[in-house]
Amino acid sequence: MRLAKSIKALLVLGSVLAVVVWLTGANRSQAVVRTTIDDKPAASDYVGSDTCKDCHEDTFKAYSHTAHAALTTLSSWKGKASGCESCHGPGKAHVDGGGDKTKIISFTGKSPKEISESCLSCHAGKEERNNFRRGEHWRNDIGCTDCHSPHSNKEGRNVASSNMLVTTANAEKPGFATTRMLKANDPQLCTSCHSEVKPQFSAPFHHKVLEGAMRCSDCHNPHGGFELKQTRLATGGDAACVKCHADKQGPFTFEHAPVKTEGCSSCHTPHGSANPRLLRYSAVNQLCLTCHSAAHDVGAIEPAGPSHNQNAQYRDCTACHVKIHGSRTSPVFFR
Ligand code: HEC
Ligand code: HEC
Ligand code: HEC
Ligand code: HEC
Ligand code: HEC
Ligand code: HEC
Ligand code: HEC
Ligand code: HEC
Ligand code: HEC
Ligand code: HEC
Repeated sequence: MRLAKSIKALLVLGSVLAVVVWLTGANRSQAVVRTTIDDKPAASDYVGSDTCKDCHEDTFKAYSHTAHAALTTLSSWKGKASGCESCHGPGKAHVDGGGDKTKIISFTGKSPKEISESCLSCHAGKEERNNFRRGEHWRNDIGCTDCHSPHSNKEGRNVASSNMLVTTANAEKPGFATTRMLKANDPQLCTSCHSEVKPQFSAPFHHKVLEGAMRCSDCHNPHGGFELKQTRLATGGDAACVKCHADKQGPFTFEHAPVKTEGCSSCHTPHGSANPRLLRYSAVNQLCLTCHSAAHDVGAIEPAGPSHNQNAQYRDCTACHVKIHGSRTSPVFFR
């Protein structure tokens, strides 16, 4: 009897779920945050973006180059709210009222979280962004439109201000972006708020972010995530670092434990450093001995200190322990 009951309960739960899925699915294809205006807009409440163009020409022009504008032309978006009204809701009443701003969904005065929610109604599906609400940006009231311009930037002259800027990613004026509807390019965008990290990229040894060879978002996911400091992971759960430094990934027959357990930052300062190889200490033996304390007690939790002495000949630890990230043949990382 009990079994039959739970099967019944499961069936009920299943159909409830199906309805929920169906509802949210339908919701996604329709206008967003429309609850503020009308819960069930009819198709005839929509007028299409071309109508908006008549009175909002500049916005329309900027917007017409975006991925959002392209949706209108896709067959998979036929019959769904697209264009201006996919975000602002049905516009007929607004147009009939000669631009009555109480008859359209306006984001003016809305909080970053509210605006982000409306974007996430379409954009939360991808892994890249489905943890946005778990990130530091969300927690600190930084929303999608702090980084993205919802209508894209106005067209303008776009000339690199310096020949130091080398890649397509920022062969553009600082503060000017043509990709991803960004308000400015990564890294200019990021350093406009995170000015405290900028000097680290001018340290004697640094990742060439300011030079344009890589971006902040190669290592960080600006859209949040589970990792500490919103760092990215490469496929397989290793640090994003191995995407570029593949030889450090392993698997090795003999792993150097902290590479996997504590991560690359236990020995390197990822942004930049006064020390070669971005090491946390200027002398390699200092680094090693922070963990491999020479006075090692049996049963202690910390790894064994070297049994060889600390004479000058041993100071350059990685001269002998060359495969310090792990080795396929040597348990003490000699080759
Ligand atoms: C991707 C969603 C989205 C689309 C598509 C969109 N908007 Fe907006 N719109 C916004 C957001 C968000 C704001 C608030 C701007 C802000 O806070 O920076 C806004 C603001 C506005 C404003 C207020 C003035 C301003 O620029 O800040 C007008 C007018 C406007 N939109 C018109 C339009 C028109 C016309 C279209 C189509 C050509 C359009 N929008 C397409 C999201 C969108
Ligand atoms: C007949 C001209 C006209 C048309 C067509 C028109 N608008 Fe407007 N719209 C206006 C005017 C005028 C305002 C400014 C109202 C004000 O500031 O009092 C405005 C304001 C807005 C705002 C800003 C509201 C705010 O709180 O600041 C949005 C968003 C907007 N329109 C979106 C649209 C969209 C989307 C369309 C197409 C569906 C559209 N408009 C079509 C005249 C028009
Ligand atoms: C009606 C659904 C919908 C809404 C609402 C929506 N988007 Fe999009 N957006 C899309 C789709 C679909 C694409 C194209 C596919 C993709 O890149 O995911 C897209 C693309 C983008 C892109 C990539 C642009 C490029 O050049 O590759 C950005 C950035 C973006 N949206 C930001 C936003 C922001 C910010 C908001 C809220 C103000 C928003 N979107 C609201 C559906 C939506
Ligand atoms: C802190 C800045 C920042 C915030 C906040 C932010 N983005 Fe982005 N977004 C970026 C950057 C930088 C890129 C370019 C990354 C790249 O090219 O790999 C990007 C890329 C995108 C893309 C296109 C690339 C892709 O993954 O398909 C979409 C879509 C997008 N963002 C949507 C959103 C939405 C929706 C929100 C709000 C929920 C949001 N973003 C919030 C910085 C931000
Ligand atoms: C509009 C301002 C703003 C922009 C633009 C911005 N951030 Fe942030 N970011 C913040 C704030 C505020 C916090 C939370 C407080 C803090 O830790 O500084 C934060 C937190 C972070 C953190 C987590 C720090 C921690 O201690 O956990 C990372 C990583 C980060 N941002 C990276 C980026 C990257 C990468 C970009 C560019 C794609 C970017 N941010 C753009 C404002 C911004
Ligand atoms: C090579 C990869 C890499 C690049 C490129 C990178 N970061 Fe980081 N960043 C990290 C890692 C890893 C951490 C965590 C450091 C730690 O655990 O000690 C971090 C930490 C941070 C923090 C937290 C504060 C702190 O100092 O611990 C902020 C904010 C931040 N990064 C912003 C940025 C910005 C802005 C850019 C671009 C200008 C950027 N990062 C480029 C890897 C990177
Ligand atoms: C987008 C690719 C990329 C990512 C991701 C990346 N790096 Fe790098 N890294 C480079 C390049 C390219 C260089 C060498 C060129 C230079 O001087 O900038 C470099 C240099 C280094 C160096 C110094 C090498 C030397 O010979 O002095 C260290 C150490 C390093 N990276 C560690 C890391 C760590 C740790 C991470 C993750 C937090 C990381 N990298 C993420 C591309 C990357
Ligand atoms: C236990 C400390 C430690 C950890 C953890 C560590 N490294 Fe290193 N790494 C070093 C030392 C020490 C050197 C300098 C080796 C030398 O002097 O030849 C180095 C050198 C490097 C270099 C430049 C020289 C080379 O071999 O290419 C890169 C790149 C690098 N590490 C990347 C990484 C990455 C990526 C991670 C995380 C997957 C990582 N490291 C984790 C200690 C560490
Ligand atoms: C963040 C802490 C940490 C740092 C820094 C570190 N190690 Fe280790 N190392 C470990 C741990 C943990 C093990 C595994 C010990 C075990 O399994 O008993 C280990 C293992 C080793 C081994 C294998 C032999 C053994 O005792 O298992 C050698 C050799 C070694 N480390 C050398 C070095 C050298 C050389 C450096 C400096 C370049 C260094 N380590 C830096 C934590 C560290
Ligand atoms: C001249 C080469 C050389 C240098 C330099 C060197 N080691 Fe060693 N290390 C060895 C040899 C040989 C062994 C023993 C290997 C074995 O037993 O198979 C060893 C073993 C180790 C072990 C494993 C535990 C043990 O004693 O058996 C650790 C940990 C270690 N060394 C750490 C370090 C540290 C930290 C430094 C720098 C302060 C360093 N080594 C410098 C040659 C060197």
